[in-house]
Amino acid sequence: MPLDSLDGLTVPDPSVRRPFGRTGLAVTPICVGTSPLANMPGLYGYEVGEQRARATVEAVFDGPFNFLDTSNNYGNGSAERRIGAVVRDRGGVPDGFVLATKVDADPDTGDFSGERVRRSAEESLERLGVDNVPLLYLHDPEYHITFEEAMSPGGAVEALVALRDAGVADHIGIAAGPIGLLRDFVATGVFDAVISHNRWTLVNREADPLLDDAFERGVAFVNGAPYGGGMLVKGPDAQPRYCYRETAEAVRESVRAMQRTCDEHGVPLAAAALQFSLRDPRVASTIVGLSEPERMEETLRLATTPIPPGLWNELDRHLPSPPAWLD
Ligand SMILES: NC(=O)c1ccc[n+]([C@@H]2O[C@H](COP(=O)([O-])OP(=O)(O)OC[C@H]3O[C@@H](n4cnc5c(N)ncnc54)[C@H](OP(=O)(O)O)[C@@H]3O)[C@@H](O)[C@H]2O)c1
Repeated sequence: MPLDSLDGLTVPDPSVRRPFGRTGLAVTPICVGTSPLANMPGLYGYEVGEQRARATVEAVFDGPFNFLDTSNNYGNGSAERRIGAVVRDRGGVPDGFVLATKVDADPDTGDFSGERVRRSAEESLERLGVDNVPLLYLHDPEYHITFEEAMSPGGAVEALVALRDAGVADHIGIAAGPIGLLRDFVATGVFDAVISHNRWTLVNREADPLLDDAFERGVAFVNGAPYGGGMLVKGPDAQPRYCYRETAEAVRESVRAMQRTCDEHGVPLAAAALQFSLRDPRVASTIVGLSEPERMEETLRLATTPIPPGLWNELDRHLPSPPAWLD
């Protein structure tokens, strides 16, 4: 999609539910991501204790968003355990809440066979304290198996489909990094939803063709990490990494230039980063990772801060060139 065709778009009310692709689910445009609350200092650069995580999950269940994203392997299962403790205390997930998790490769052996997919789902249900989930993704296959291996008879995707057919999950999705790989998975027609991360942000536009593919097929596109894992909300000095890894200086320079442009308009850079994703009609929901209860209010404020329409073109002038992107 030509980017200037996004001019004049408006941001949806972040707390009003809307259709999630062809699934029949209704979700808020903002989904809460739980990798920061799993306590992964290696990725985010800080510790998150039990109490803080618990208070965050409580705030999510009591807050305006009805969509929560986790995975079998965030903090070796600690995100799911922390969510599950609150679910058990409350006697279940709040009505109308969409709790999504992901099947992961075996953390010790890297096995991502059909058998491992079944075991991963069992572990997740047990940790979360639920009998089924509305949405279950195949998570980050690129680190363990090829597309062909994932799709082979008896492989990971066949097992995921069988889990859906058995009622363990109502709908299935694919979550990964490389855009070409995600396009191949979406083209199979098997998946109801796709998560891409860090590749549809103010400073990275790699996912554009995937957004088109998903939209045309009625596959719900879920945009993870609108802040690039923190840099676009905490600033490049507090969070110098983009997508959990060392990044080109050009990206930090670009963020600093965007920050100055936003300052001139009195707009927080984080509001522009979040609304860049929210305003795109091809994005079904945007996953914001957070690990503090106060973030709920802050996120709502960032999602509803007025942004002058001319700001988008000014920010695009500072977009780093594609070689500084990820893939
Ligand atoms: N392969 C995949 O499936 C995949 C990959 C990446 C991400 N995801 C999903 O997408 C979610 C989002 O990605 P992400 O969490 O890595 O990145 P992100 O949403 O771009 O950024 C998260 C960071 O932003 C900070 N933050 C959020 N709101 C803030 C605010 N109002 N003020 C200051 N800091 C704020 C968080 O800090 P605090 O911790 O201090 O709140 C955290 O450090 C993940 O949690 C995960 O659920 C999925």
